[in-house]
Formats: sequence, structure tokens, C-alpha cells
Amino acid sequence: MSKFPKLLGVVVALGSLSIGINGAMAQKIGVGREATPAEIKGWDIAVRPDGKGLPPGKGTAAKGEDVFQTLCAACHGEFGEGKDRWPELVGGHGTLKHERPFKTIGSYWPYASTIFDYIKRAMPFGNAQSLSNDELYSLTAYLLQTNDVIKDPNLELNAQTLPAIRMPNADGFYDDDREKAEKQFWTQTPCMKACKKEATVLNRATILDVTPGKTTRNKAD
Ligand code: HEC
Repeated sequence: MSKFPKLLGVVVALGSLSIGINGAMAQKIGVGREATPAEIKGWDIAVRPDGKGLPPGKGTAAKGEDVFQTLCAACHGEFGEGKDRWPELVGGHGTLKHERPFKTIGSYWPYASTIFDYIKRAMPFGNAQSLSNDELYSLTAYLLQTNDVIKDPNLELNAQTLPAIRMPNADGFYDDDREKAEKQFWTQTPCMKACKKEATVLNRATILDVTPGKTTRNKAD
């Protein structure tokens, strides 16, 4: 017997399965179970830019410094400068328009509450979600201080004060405006070949010194 009818059988079976799944909206198909409140709580840890989701608790940069030295400095350096090839957490202010922007919490991130969210869900690397809320507020404060966003080491951060902090690059983000800014591309009959009438070569990789050469070393900046 040729394989074709068998294959057809599988396709038909898959087809009816997908109908079954669609139908599941209306009636249960006996797969899975309701998530428990504890399970939902475990996943529901997002902190929004406006601060919604921030838990009770408080902290200061002064307290965060101790925690940072114990749990974070091994990778990120004592002041967030980064050890070996682990990521830097400070610096880069004013570099976003450079050829090689240096993006950190301080130079790039638009919201302070995201720092709390990130540390809570992902750090310390390898032991995520092990920190108390007070430690999280304190670490966030310490990183804001090392990035010169806050000055006072005793400024208390909590669910009210943290979202009120304005980040240096807060205005660097805007809503996707391509529908307006790139209006010419949004057409019923898009150009599919030879669309660019003239192309100007501005530079070449060899001149830019990014192509590995036999005699020259690449510039490291
Ligand atoms: C074992 C090494 C290690 C330790 C310890 C560690 N981190 Fe990290 N951290 C990383 C790595 C790796 C990344 C990048 C992860 C990625 O991009 O997916 C990172 C990223 C971050 C970032 C985001 C940086 C950015 O601009 O994208 C923050 C904030 C951060 N860590 C904070 C902390 C804090 C606070 C602690 C201590 C509680 C900590 N880390 C401990 C390795 C570490």
C-alpha cells in the first residue's frame, strides 16, 4: 500500500484534533487543570513602569551596598563596573548617539521600576528569585546611586517612591510610529524589485578597519 492514504489519515486526524481544541472553548476536553492561587502568585511577579506590582517593603542604597558586595560584586564588580567579561551595570551616560552606544541601567533604561523587576526575576544569576523585597529595594537604590540617578544613600525606596524616580533616558523611547514615519512603505502594491533608484556607498569595511587583515590588528575601542 502506498504511504499516501496513511499520511492522509494523519492529516485528517490532526484536522479533527484542531477542531477539538477550538471546541474546547465551549466544552472541556479533560486536559490540564486550573492553576492554583499559589501557582499564579509564583508567576505573577511583573512590576510595571508605573509601579503597579511593586510589593510592600523598603530599602536604601546604604543597605544595598552590603548586599551588592556579597551577592553581586563577584560578577558585576564592587561599583557595578563589571568583572572580567560579566556585564557592567554603570556608565555610558550620553553615549547613546555614539557609533557604539554603551547601554546600562543608567544610560539606557527608561524606568527605575524595571530594575527592581529584573533583579527580582533574574538575579543573582543562577539563584534567581531568592532575594527578599527589602533586599530588592536596597539593591535597586544602590544601582541608582552608582549610576548618579539618586544622590542620597539614605533615600528610602518603596512602592511609592521608586516609580517616581525619573531615569536619564526616560524620553529616549517613544511609541512605534512607523505607520506614519514610514507611510510610503504601507501600500497595497509594495515595490518588489529594483526599488532603490540610487545607492551611495559611504564607506567600505576594509577602510573602516573592521575586516581582519594579515598585517594590521583591529582597533579595540
Ligand atoms: C554569576 C554572575 C552574576 C551574579 C552573581 C549576578 N549577576 Fe547580574 N547579570 C549577570 C549576567 C550574565 C547578566 C546578563 C544576563 C542577560 O543578559 O541575559 C546580568 C545582568 C544583570 C542586570 C541587567 C543589566 C543590563 O543593563 O541589561 C542587572 C540589573 C543585574 N544583573 C543585577 C544583579 C544584581 C543586583 C546581582 C546581585 C543580587 C547580580 N546581578 C548578580 C551575571 C551575574
